Amino acid sequence: MIEDLIRVAKRTEHIHYAVRDIIVLARQAQQAGTELLYLNIGDPGLFDFPTPPHIIEAICRALRDNLTSYAASEGLPAAIEAIREDAEQRCGIRAIQDIFVGSGCSECIEVALAALVDEGDGVLVPQPGYPLYSAVLAKLGAREQHYYLDEQRAWQPNVAELAQAIDARTRAIVLINPNNPTGSICDRATLEGILELAAKHNLVVLADEIYDRLVLDGQHIALGSLRDDVPVVTFMGLSKVYLGPGLRLGWAIVSGPARPLAPYIDAMHKFLRARLSASHPVQHAVAPALRGDHTHLKQALTKLRARRELTLQLLNSTPGIHCVPPAAAFYAFPRLLEETEDAGWVADLVRETGVVVVHGSGFGQRPGSAHFRVVYLPQEPTLRSAFTHIAEFAARRRQRRALAHGERPGPK
Ligand SMILES: Cc1ncc(COP(=O)(O)O)c(C=O)c1O
Repeated sequence: MIEDLIRVAKRTEHIHYAVRDIIVLARQAQQAGTELLYLNIGDPGLFDFPTPPHIIEAICRALRDNLTSYAASEGLPAAIEAIREDAEQRCGIRAIQDIFVGSGCSECIEVALAALVDEGDGVLVPQPGYPLYSAVLAKLGAREQHYYLDEQRAWQPNVAELAQAIDARTRAIVLINPNNPTGSICDRATLEGILELAAKHNLVVLADEIYDRLVLDGQHIALGSLRDDVPVVTFMGLSKVYLGPGLRLGWAIVSGPARPLAPYIDAMHKFLRARLSASHPVQHAVAPALRGDHTHLKQALTKLRARRELTLQLLNSTPGIHCVPPAAAFYAFPRLLEETEDAGWVADLVRETGVVVVHGSGFGQRPGSAHFRVVYLPQEPTLRSAFTHIAEFAARRRQRRALAHGERPGPK
């Protein structure tokens, strides 16, 4: 019998995914008898945001018709055609050179990065930002280069700082717009600045626009609509806008100058062929989703507006917490004004109250600052209860700190 522990790959040391890693701690709290309130996962399906019936029906029909063979590696022609139409007509994306479908945006992102970077190459990723990019870059042995979003300017990327972070081996800029975890939307000048940098330094821009229609304030501009001479890979899918994260279907739209992009597109297709195809029956839902009824979106936005207002009101009335109003998606990223570290704060919050949020350090942030991410998808009573717990927890913590410093306790 083999008794030696199996030696695992070194690259696993750098793989973290805070959104789900926090569950381990939550389960321990639950076993100790604490009731949990989950504000950690951006999954509309866990709350009152059901997948639209015509999307479900399209998949059921495909299954009944026994459409369970492998699909083409790049995706079903009917799905690709509908994606092209949406990208050109609604988003205004120019110079589309290729479209492919994957098992969620996640797979498309992995293909786009794997076909682009060698070990040691650099990719600029936003801080805060969605942690999948860091995990994939760690897997590929590529270098994560950080650029910070500016909290004082509604979490806009700072283009001048971004420019400074570029070095001789930088290959791409990741832009998450609308952003997870901050819920911010980039303004036109920032987008133009990023495209200008990419053009100057010969970089590909990976534009993650998976929340593009979940906009509460302002307007989302598709990066690929602004120029046709910069290589842009835009990611979208069924997970968020179409309320079907478990369907695992996303797509990538490759736009920009044809000749420079040709080898990159070929390389991505090598990876696509090697993994066979995305789910065949689910792809039959893409055209009905994109071309069909969008009532669900209107309803979702109405609910999200009310829940965001409540979230802001309750968080911003808590001493020691300040939250920049999110403009899109369903996340808020409040700052802990009196803390310098957030992982311990979040762990204590879960243990003491059962409220599960994600520590800001799991998304990256300016050194010395502390934040946490909340998902405001739950219904108002759950949100109210969670934020009351958070306010009470924060007050206890302030009081303990004041006592430890021999001060009189501050306001509760
Ligand atoms: C910014 C961003 N990109 C990609 C994804 C993953 O998308 P998918 O479910 O299509 O794999 C998420 C999921 O939370 C996300 O927030």
